[in-house]
Amino acid sequence: MGTAVRQPEVRERSGERVSYRFPPGFQRNLLWYALRKFRPANPIVLFQHLADTYGDIAHYKIGHHHIVFLNHPEYIREVLVVQNDNFIKERTVQRTRMLLGEGMITSEGAAHRAQRLAAQPAFHRQRIGEYGAVMVEEAAHTRDLWQAGERRDIAIDMMHLTLNVVARTLFATDLREEVYELAAAINRIMGLYNFLVMLPAAEWLVHLRPPGLAAFVRARQRIDAVVYRMIDAHQKSGLDRGSLLDLMLAASPANDEASRQSLRDQVITIFLAGYETVANALSWTWYLLSQNPECEAELHNEVDGALRGKLPAVEDVSRLRYTENVMAESLRLYPPAWAMGRYARNDFALGDYFLPARTTVLISQFITHRDSRYFPDPLRFDPDRFTAEGKAERTKFTYFPFGAGARQCIGESFAWMEGVLILATLAQKWKLRLVEGHRVEPQPLITLRPKYGMLMQVDPR
Ligand code: HEM
Repeated sequence: MGTAVRQPEVRERSGERVSYRFPPGFQRNLLWYALRKFRPANPIVLFQHLADTYGDIAHYKIGHHHIVFLNHPEYIREVLVVQNDNFIKERTVQRTRMLLGEGMITSEGAAHRAQRLAAQPAFHRQRIGEYGAVMVEEAAHTRDLWQAGERRDIAIDMMHLTLNVVARTLFATDLREEVYELAAAINRIMGLYNFLVMLPAAEWLVHLRPPGLAAFVRARQRIDAVVYRMIDAHQKSGLDRGSLLDLMLAASPANDEASRQSLRDQVITIFLAGYETVANALSWTWYLLSQNPECEAELHNEVDGALRGKLPAVEDVSRLRYTENVMAESLRLYPPAWAMGRYARNDFALGDYFLPARTTVLISQFITHRDSRYFPDPLRFDPDRFTAEGKAERTKFTYFPFGAGARQCIGESFAWMEGVLILATLAQKWKLRLVEGHRVEPQPLITLRPKYGMLMQVDPR
C-alpha cells in the first residue's frame, strides 16, 4: 500500500496561496485500489483497513475529491459538534433525494431547523411515555402470533412490528394489512440501494449498476400511495390528535402540490428512520442473546423479577436496566446506523491537518465501536460495559449509535423505550435459537442488516 506521508497541496484562492496539510493515507486514487484490492460492495473492509493502517485519521482521493476517514473521539467531536456549522450532509447526491426527498434527514439550514422544531413535541419525554402502551400492545400481538417450535425470519417479524409501532404512535394510523405491502416496497428499495446513498462522493468508489429503475419506480409508487392515503385520511377527518402527522400538517398548511410533496417526504423519512433502525437493532439483539446464554439467562431473570408475569408498562422500564444494557451492547457491536458522512463547506482544520472545502468526512460507528482502545476485548458481548460505572469511565464520542451534535437522532428516547419494551414482552414468553447452519453476516446498506435475514427457532421458555 502507499506510504503514509503526503505532500502539502497548494491552491490559489482569491489571489491568496493556501497550503493544505493532508493526513496520511492512500497515495493513489481509491479507484485504483477499488479495482485491485477491495470489494467495493463492503465498505467496512475498506474502513477497517484505513483505521488499521493509518490510525486516527486517514486520507484518500476519489477522482479530484478529497476524503478523510476518522476514528478518534476528538476528531469526531470536532466534526459533529464543534465545527458542525461547517458541514452539511451532501444533498446533491441524487439518489438520496430520490428515496427520501427533503425530509429531516436530508434537509439543511433553515428548512432542517423548521422541520425539527415542528416535530419536536412528538418526541417529548411525556409523549414517548404515552407511546409505551402501544409498543407493548404490538409486541404482545407478535408474541401471540408465534407458535412453539416454528422457524421464523425474525428480521422480517421485527420489521413488521416496528413499522406498526411507528404508524400507530407517530401517525395515529393503523396499517394492519398494509404493513406487509409497505414493508415489502421499502425492502425492495433498500435492496436496490446500497450504502452509497448515505455516503457522499463514495459513489465513485464503485461502478454502480444503476438500480433497476422500473422496480424502484413501482416500489416508490406503492409507498407513496400508502403515505398519501394516510395524509388524506387525516386531512379529511379534520381531527387533531396531536400526532406527529398533525404537527406536520399544522406546519405546512398550504394544500398545493409542493406542500403535499414536502409532507410526503417528511412522513416517509420518519417511517424509514424510525422502523428500519429499531428492527435491525432488535434482530441483532436476538442473535447476540442466542449466542450468549448466560446473558440471556440474566435478562430472563430481570424480566421475570421486574414484571412478575404481567405485561411490561412504561413505569417498568427504569427497572429493566440489564435489558437496556443488552440493547446498548448490541448497538455497539451492530450499530444499525453504521456510518455517517459530512461535506465541508469551507476549508477547515482537524488537529494538525488543514483540509480544503468540499472534502468529504466519513465516520463509522461500526469501526469506532469495535476499537480495542475504547472497548477492551471488543468482539466480546458484554452488557456490563454499560453499567453506570462503565458509562462514567468511557471516553465521550467513542460510542455514538445515535450520532451527536445538532443532527443527533431525534428518535433516540423513542428507540430505547421501544427496544426495551419489545425485548421484555417477547422474552417473557419465548427464547429464540439461531437455526443451525443459518449464515449470519452484516450487510452495510442504508442500515446494517443481517444479509441473509435471521432465521430462528421460537422455543417456549
Ligand atoms: C436503534 C434505533 C436508531 C438508531 C441507531 C438511529 C440512529 C440515528 C443516527 C446515527 C442519526 C444521525 C445521522 C447523521 O448525523 O448523519 C439519526 C438521525 C435521525 N433519526 Fe434515528 N436512529 C434510531 C431510531 C430512530 C427512531 C425511532 C426515529 C423516529 C421515530 C428516528 C428518526 C431520526 C431522524 C428524523 C433523524 C434525523 C435528525 C436530524 O437530522 O435532525 N431514529 N438516527
